[in-house]
Amino acid sequence: MSYLTTITRMWLTRSFKPWTFTNENDNFLDFGELDKLGLYIHIPFCKSICSFCPYCKEIYEVEKCNKYIESLIKEIHLVGSMHVGKKVVTSLYFGGGTPALAINSLYKIIDAVKEHFIITEGIGVELHPNDVRIDVLQELQKIGVTKISIGIQSFQKKFQSILGREAVDIQYLKSMLNKFYFETISIDLIFALPSQKYEDLKKDIDDAFNAGANHIAIYPFINFSFLNSNIPVMNNNEKKILLDRISNYCLNKGYVRNSIWTFTNNKKAKYSSMTRDNFLGFGCSATTLLRDQFKINTFSVEEYCNRIDNNILATALTIRFSIRQRMIYYLFWTAYSTVISKKNFKEFFGISLEKMYGIEMKLAKKLGFIIEKNDTYQLSLKGCFYYHYYENYYTLAYIDKMWGYLRNNPFPKRMVL
Ligand SMILES: C[S@@+](CC[C@H](N)C(=O)[O-])C[C@H]1O[C@@H](n2cnc3c(N)ncnc32)[C@H](O)[C@@H]1O
Ligand code: SF4
Repeated sequence: MSYLTTITRMWLTRSFKPWTFTNENDNFLDFGELDKLGLYIHIPFCKSICSFCPYCKEIYEVEKCNKYIESLIKEIHLVGSMHVGKKVVTSLYFGGGTPALAINSLYKIIDAVKEHFIITEGIGVELHPNDVRIDVLQELQKIGVTKISIGIQSFQKKFQSILGREAVDIQYLKSMLNKFYFETISIDLIFALPSQKYEDLKKDIDDAFNAGANHIAIYPFINFSFLNSNIPVMNNNEKKILLDRISNYCLNKGYVRNSIWTFTNNKKAKYSSMTRDNFLGFGCSATTLLRDQFKINTFSVEEYCNRIDNNILATALTIRFSIRQRMIYYLFWTAYSTVISKKNFKEFFGISLEKMYGIEMKLAKKLGFIIEKNDTYQLSLKGCFYYHYYENYYTLAYIDKMWGYLRNNPFPKRMVL
């Protein structure tokens, strides 16, 4: 498996150089001139821990959470004041963990953000199904949240119990979502769970839209090696058939695919914190992507607070990209949105996509992975599947390794992937 990712990496970056991360910690981030900059804030607390979940989180405690939010606000001011004046950004997303556990502090965090940034495309918050309540939704609307994403995973008891989650009351969910307007109401579902059939997923998709979602994310189940989860993984063949069938089901219903795993019945609905040209991440485990570097904060809540209290950014690892590495990173995440724009590539890198990856594009076209349309390359159904397949490898070869390591090492010296 890792042979495939290594060979692809060497071919696409035209170099033997691996992805090398070091403990370099810039205390100045040069984001002032960057276009299409997004913001992400991580809240790493949950009421209980789900065995399948790889994200950085710990059990919620009021005092710990309050202390963390103080540090978070300090980090926002620390980074925000590296740019003189207010910087225009696209969106602000809160993820976790369970951000609504800090519902009464979110306004303070947003106020801190607004002292340095002008948000033009709205604010998104990830919700646990238990957060879908009048008091939480009211507060979210009051503080200007425009997008919510609810982690349902499955509406069916059988799969909820495989995942160790409680059943969701659809009628209650529907009544709550009918009471409040959000531009995007997204529901997360997980597919490729043991014994899960096309009919199960079709029902989940219908239930999600009927409950009031205008956007769904259907993630393939990934068994991260550092978790002690005993949920078996579906084989690739079965997964391919499932993905093709659910994709066709959504497309035949007239839903628009706005990324490999997301579909919407309203073109305005969008929920994605990763598909940005550049982003700044705040909080533990949050990542930052700039023109020539990618960095990830420490996974330790305690170490994060200590560093920030000493006015030092809590970066655990940084990679300085070669130009080809940056292009591959850019193309990987642009392809995730299913459309690669030649114009945007040229604007970002100052050189045409054809010049840098003309052969690869021709090959991908010949193999039926992409379709050339005007100024864009669009992923075909086959392309979407192979992207999904490769993303699976990428997650296990890179993310699994990095997150697994960072969970036990707050500030490693170096990491080579
Ligand atoms: C930060 S998590 C969940 C947000 C919220 N705390 C909740 O539990 O509903 C974001 C999403 O990642 C997805 N996810 C988590 N672990 C996964 C795994 N092992 N494989 C695939 N998707 C996963 C789930 O769909 C989840 O809703
Ligand atoms: S799935 Fe949600 S509630 Fe469960 S551990 Fe992950 S972030 Fe927390």
